[in-house]
Amino acid sequence: MTIGRTQAVALQGLLGSVIDIECDIADGIPMYSLLGLPDASLQESRDRVRAALTNTGQKWPNKKVTVSLSPAWIPKSGPGFDCAIALAILIADGTIAQEPLADVVVLGELALDGSLRSVRGVLPSLIAAYKSGVKRAIVPRANQREAELMEQMEILSFNHIIEIYRWLTTGEYPIGQPLDLEIDATGESLDFADVAGQAKARFAAEVAATGGHHLLLIGPPGAGKTMIASRLPTILPPLTVEESLEVTAIHSIADGLSKRSAMSKIAPIVAPHHSASRASIVGGGNRVIQPGAISLANRGVLFIDEAPECAAGILDALRQPLESGNITIARSVGSVTFPARFLLVLAANPCPCGKYSSRGLGCTCSSLQVRRYLGKLSGPLMDRIDIRVDVDPVGRVELASEVMGEPSQEIRSRVIAARKKASKRFENCPWKLNAEIPARALRLEFRPERAAMNFLHDELDKELITARGLHKVVRLAWTLADLGGHDVPTLDDVRRAYQLRDGGY
Ligand SMILES: Nc1ncnc2c1ncn2[C@@H]1O[C@H](COP(=O)(O)OP(=O)(O)O)[C@@H](O)[C@H]1O
Ligand SMILES: [Mg+2]
Ligand SMILES: [Zn+2]
Repeated sequence: MTIGRTQAVALQGLLGSVIDIECDIADGIPMYSLLGLPDASLQESRDRVRAALTNTGQKWPNKKVTVSLSPAWIPKSGPGFDCAIALAILIADGTIAQEPLADVVVLGELALDGSLRSVRGVLPSLIAAYKSGVKRAIVPRANQREAELMEQMEILSFNHIIEIYRWLTTGEYPIGQPLDLEIDATGESLDFADVAGQAKARFAAEVAATGGHHLLLIGPPGAGKTMIASRLPTILPPLTVEESLEVTAIHSIADGLSKRSAMSKIAPIVAPHHSASRASIVGGGNRVIQPGAISLANRGVLFIDEAPECAAGILDALRQPLESGNITIARSVGSVTFPARFLLVLAANPCPCGKYSSRGLGCTCSSLQVRRYLGKLSGPLMDRIDIRVDVDPVGRVELASEVMGEPSQEIRSRVIAARKKASKRFENCPWKLNAEIPARALRLEFRPERAAMNFLHDELDKELITARGLHKVVRLAWTLADLGGHDVPTLDDVRRAYQLRDGGY
């Protein structure tokens, strides 16, 4: 008998490897063996594949069936190999021909009745297949939209394995409605025009978006912190096609269908709850390593509301990805690296009861409690946060005003223009944004005007600012200079940066 051959893809993080599946059917005691590092869920695939074949009128070969997945050393997991295994068995027992499946990658889990269930990670799988020269793919119909993002490949999608037999034997391809996946467009309808007043916080958001400066918003409940943070993606530059493909690929392997619409050009925003587990924030999992919120926020915004309430260690876990722009998760099955380059926005109440303000009305917390509460945010993480802004609730007059705030589109065009100036300056540097200028380069190459440096050195002498604080001010001053069209930060840029770091305007 012939050996049946099909191909599928194993994913480790975002990296896929094409897996060759070979099936041999030999005379002998009926048995089924699966070779090549299969994990437990792959073993279960035997029962699913057998049920799917017998329930769709195929004979299960009453012989010695050997299925081998290679290369053996690549960890493989999950149900995404079912369909490819089933087709290899059908080729081996002569039910279908080898030729039409020779250069096709097959993705999909089988239900017991033979229908094809959607799988995670279709986009990164196809990217990998394409890179190794495969030009055609069979995918579950539920994944068709996602698969079609790989425009360079021919995508065939099916609802049921019977449709695949039919296509292979008669050439008849099922035309059906492509599944209408719900597209969540809410993120795309938000606009800064909705935010009344809040000049200070709006400006801080613009500066953050321009220079990539991480941001801390402090204000009582209802002040509009969430409102402002959730509109940040609307003023970030739109994603390029490549960035959007990367973001979609990460969301495609995440647990549960992400609400984000595929290939959206708007930067993602992810807002994990402060009680979220470490694994859900940084990534993890047992059998399959899942990206966490920091990777879903890649190229976008990670918003942590009520940040002082975060469990110990969670905020600290953000430090390493903030440095490197990625996260490596090590497990016994191997280690996986996901991108995790995001703009961090933390929000906090001013005190445990939330009512503390400069006016001091209604707050029942002791001054020690107030200090302790925000003190939870101090430490090495705060070294990475350039901007701190106090958000006071807007007054009734501003809320009632019919004058809308400046729309996101206008803010965004300033952000884009200012980033262009910065990227020209950083042409020969390994970084792109002002927030990423290393301390050394700040001292040597990227110094503000002399008067501005004198001002900062005076503050340093008076111990009103630390060396670290000085670096933050200078990075911010570069962003203000870019927004203001200055080639070098002026004294005024530095003064305003100083305020921004301090919470003022
Ligand atoms: N500046 C503002 N302009 C318009 N509406 C606002 C403003 N600030 C607050 N609101 C209203 O108050 C609600 C609560 O704001 P939210 O952003 O959730 O506050 P916070 O996150 O600071 O608790 C918003 O959904 C909005 O309806
Ligand atoms: Mg809120
Ligand atoms: Zn209080």
